[in-house]
Amino acid sequence: MSPVSPTQNSLTANVLDRNDRLKTRMRRLRSSPVLRGMVRETHIRLEKLIYPLFIVEGKGIRKPISSMPGVHQQSIDEMLREVESIAESGLRSVILFGIPEKKDPEATGAWHADGIVQRATTEIKKRFPEMLVVADTCLCEYMSHGHCGVVEDGRILNDPSVDILARAAVSQARAGADVIAPSDMMDGRVAAIRHALDASGFADIPIMAYSAKYASGFYGPFREAAESAPQFGDRSSYQMDPPNSREALREIELDIEEGADIVMVKPALAYLDIISKARELTNLPIAAYNVSGEYSMVKAAAANGWIDERRVVLECLTGIFRAGADIIITYHAPDVAAWLR
Ligand code: PBG
Repeated sequence: MSPVSPTQNSLTANVLDRNDRLKTRMRRLRSSPVLRGMVRETHIRLEKLIYPLFIVEGKGIRKPISSMPGVHQQSIDEMLREVESIAESGLRSVILFGIPEKKDPEATGAWHADGIVQRATTEIKKRFPEMLVVADTCLCEYMSHGHCGVVEDGRILNDPSVDILARAAVSQARAGADVIAPSDMMDGRVAAIRHALDASGFADIPIMAYSAKYASGFYGPFREAAESAPQFGDRSSYQMDPPNSREALREIELDIEEGADIVMVKPALAYLDIISKARELTNLPIAAYNVSGEYSMVKAAAANGWIDERRVVLECLTGIFRAGADIIITYHAPDVAAWLR
């Protein structure tokens, strides 16, 4: 046999290598639905989903939100019917957003015992005591100017806003809320809310803090739903700058120090890296908000027949869980409940 040239030699080595490598065949475990199910790492469970509701004053009102197909502003009576149906479908938790009849510069509707979210909470807990009610604690829906804090000379003041938020949280707890979820992004609000809750006999009520909440274009449809668009400027002096990730970890660390029980990243899909970094940072449960714009984009593409809605929604939620979230707030929850039945 003639001696092999160096080139031939490396070619032979390559072939052997490839044969060797084929001893490991990743496709073996993908060969049947049962095997795929057995090795599946991430699951969607209904008890991990929170469904947002938008509540308005009045009776018999169920007004579609045009930018969020399938989502409505509802009066308390209509909302109770929806809660009944989602409870039947297996969902366990809702988060409430209120649209008050009157907005003012003190956000009275946010902390008043007779506020729309307070009354809605009491009604839900009366009829469906098992349903976990999360109260979104913020001022934007109740402020005439639409900002998440007190405004003076065009600036959003931190500390006076925190006082009102703490007051709102206590009144939500008094109405029966199971979890308080501050979404305003003022500094020090978690500590202030924890202190106020403890001082009012609500030491057992957990705080789910919107810790890393970005100033995002994905909130567009929500502002139609909650009628909470700022009347001047934007939210970038309090919500986070989208390019930053180390800052998100600082926000999360601070909220934990201040007493948060659950930390949140929001939005979800453009911020999966933040969810995954948060997962490495803390052992606290992590929530992710699959926000209005994320929902509406999927709905619009599905309505056009461009994507398979069920597949895409389940893939999005799976991605958020896989990134490290324990809990997802999503408008898709009722559809998911119907699909997973
Ligand atoms: C209130 C609040 C917002 C959302 C949740 N709570 C809007 C905002 O910050 O402008 C957004 C939710 C969504 O887009 O689905 N501060």
